Amino acid sequence: MNFSIETLSTTPSGTDFADLGALLRDSVESGASVGFMLPLTDAELASYWKSVFDDVTSGQRLLLVARDAGRIVASVQLALAVKPNARHRAELQKLLVLRPQRGRGLGGALMRAAETAARADRRSLIVLDTSASGNALGLYARCGYTRVGVIPRYANDPDGPLIDTVIYYKELTP
Ligand SMILES: CC(C)(COP(=O)(O)OP(=O)(O)OC[C@H]1O[C@@H](n2cnc3c(N)ncnc32)[C@H](O)[C@@H]1OP(=O)(O)O)[C@@H](O)C(=O)NCCC(=O)NCCS
Repeated sequence: MNFSIETLSTTPSGTDFADLGALLRDSVESGASVGFMLPLTDAELASYWKSVFDDVTSGQRLLLVARDAGRIVASVQLALAVKPNARHRAELQKLLVLRPQRGRGLGGALMRAAETAARADRRSLIVLDTSASGNALGLYARCGYTRVGVIPRYANDPDGPLIDTVIYYKELTP
């Protein structure tokens, strides 16, 4: 595999920012239920990534990206719980891999990198949810996440219908 993974800690250059927008657009257009409906405007994408970098710079979020030939082709986020009683916890969000790059192990590599970053931030519990009809279920199970259960009709698919969501967690060993 010929890709590298890094943490982005400041608002990136124009090319990286555009690549992140394209990555999110590609996932939503592939049918992934990741918070957005179709059609998706460029303004929505830019506003979303700006809010992500606001959280990154305020220390409430970690953003990891994978690059292939210098370009961002995949990403994952950890929303760091800020409540005084929850600083051991993070929510893994928006694991996204560009369609042409899927099935090469990028998703798995980003999950491992996110867990390493969580441990370094003294987080010992990761929670996540994902569409029951999405394509991430096998990956989360293989990465050792425990399936808690299903919430029916939790969110809309990008093209309309309400779909079920599966909740997972993983306790990280030091
Ligand atoms: C879910 C998603 C992130 C997986 O990314 P990926 O890079 O394809 O993940 P991996 O390559 O690590 O694993 C995917 C499959 O490829 C296989 N695979 C892993 N490494 C591989 C390799 N080196 N060569 C060939 N196949 C490989 C795995 O067996 C896996 O199969 P399975 O999931 O059917 O069991 C990607 O499909 C995606 O972006 N989906 C849309 C967004 C989404 O729904 N995200 C989750 C929301 S929280």
